[in-house]
Amino acid sequence: MAIRVWISLFLCVCALLGSESYASENEDTQSKEFVVTLDHSNFSDFVGRHKFIVVEFYAPWCGHCKKLVPEYEKAAEILSQNDPPVVLAKVDANEEQNKALAGEFDVKGFPTLKILRYGGSVVQDYKGPREADGIVSYVKKQSGPASAEIKSSKDAEDFIDVNKIIIVGVFPEFSGEKFENFTAVAERLRADYDFGHTLDAKLLPRGDSSVSGPVVRLFKPFDELFVDFQVFDVDALAKLVEEATIPTVTVFNKDPNNHPFVVKFFNSPNAKAMLFVNFNIFDSFKSKYHEVAEQYKGNDISFLIGDVEASQGAFQYFGLKEDQTPLIIIQTNEGEKYLKTNVEPDHIASWVKEFKDGKVKPYKKSEPIPEVNNEPVKVVVADNFQDMVFNSGKNVLIEFYAPWCGHCKQLAPILDEVAVSFESDADVMIAKIDATANDYSQGTFEVKGYPTLYFKSASGKLLQHQGGRTKEDIIDFIQKNRDKAAEQSPGKDEL
Ligand SMILES: *[C@@H]1O[C@H](CO)[C@@H](O)[C@H](O)[C@H]1NC(C)=O
Ligand SMILES: *[C@@H]1O[C@H](CO)[C@@H](O)[C@H](O)[C@H]1NC(C)=O
Repeated sequence: MAIRVWISLFLCVCALLGSESYASENEDTQSKEFVVTLDHSNFSDFVGRHKFIVVEFYAPWCGHCKKLVPEYEKAAEILSQNDPPVVLAKVDANEEQNKALAGEFDVKGFPTLKILRYGGSVVQDYKGPREADGIVSYVKKQSGPASAEIKSSKDAEDFIDVNKIIIVGVFPEFSGEKFENFTAVAERLRADYDFGHTLDAKLLPRGDSSVSGPVVRLFKPFDELFVDFQVFDVDALAKLVEEATIPTVTVFNKDPNNHPFVVKFFNSPNAKAMLFVNFNIFDSFKSKYHEVAEQYKGNDISFLIGDVEASQGAFQYFGLKEDQTPLIIIQTNEGEKYLKTNVEPDHIASWVKEFKDGKVKPYKKSEPIPEVNNEPVKVVVADNFQDMVFNSGKNVLIEFYAPWCGHCKQLAPILDEVAVSFESDADVMIAKIDATANDYSQGTFEVKGYPTLYFKSASGKLLQHQGGRTKEDIIDFIQKNRDKAAEQSPGKDEL
């Protein structure tokens, strides 16, 4: 599934919680706006005149955008006093005339913030916080040099935040090709990590303090806590940094310091193993899970441990309940899921091995099979999908719906009427499935919006209904595509 959906499932809840405390601060409405409004007519010109500018693409209806407004404005005011001043701008990407512009910047969700450097010739994603103070400090750092010199232990103390990835180059002198290459890597990755350079390794908190360099020391808040590189090819060093910054086990809880690593986890092309456990009993799992993760490192599985309390979005998505925890779920890139509920620390290694060996049966999210199903429109769930849709030998029209979808609600009485009109026809069934609460074969049914209607003829021909949605339209569609009873013979069954 789309990475963006994934990440928002995990992080949205926290983003909401995280910003609540600022809600009361937005009372005074200033008359002067510090955030500069741009649109398609003046964007290039304005950006072209700036060495560094932050642009927010927003939509007026988006809740996260609205929350950002006072924070962004406050940050813009503070940054306007910076030396040199930094401009924060915004573009209404919902405005028809600005849509092409938003497209150029690959805007897929709102708000999207971008950092534009050198008149717009270099574009980076904004990966900083979304509240005023956080925006200010992130933007200050981004608009300064890519790597900051560490001259004293005080500098080092201020700079090396133990919760973050910090990359420091130790050099005998700040010149030469290695230093330049290090600076180039810092430029490239500055939106993700903080870079520093120093002449004196003794100022650094960890690692061999007698080295004179050149050496690149990466500090991280997990695993081995630091790692040294002596590679100075730009691409090779950037790659080493990216690899070293993936934790063996990604931790997901409400701590925002962990969120960049959660994003990385979901961006990985690997199968994703997620252990959800109440963090009060986390310790008993930690070392066992870590061992397993170590064992599969570089082996196409990434590992995450999530606190049950912070993972409500994920539970909903997977159709899981808290009383099934501790649980481990693996999702492959093809979307197959494998689940082990009420797992004990000692079971993890053997279960992951069984999964690797192809011995675990995929897990399907399903509502319970209804005990009575005698309304005109039949209720299909994941667990009876095969039986009711594919093995019933009937002509089946099935609606994929979402409980919150307005168009689905409009369609419901119409489908009822259609179903009633076929009630005496044993060869036709009208059915519906809550596509948010049940897994279905995403390879077979392409559901891009709700409602989506599919028709499976008695002999197994499958097609999507694209036409009108009046009662008459749908009945016509069924009559046109159904197999007549006479056409069915066991030999023709294509499934
Ligand atoms: C760009 O144009 C819009 C619409 O005319 C205007 O509201 C905005 O102030 C302009 N921005 C700049 C920087 O000139
Ligand atoms: C610096 O980077 C360039 C480009 O990646 C590379 O060709 C060169 O060998 C590097 N220099 C050193 C000393 O590694």
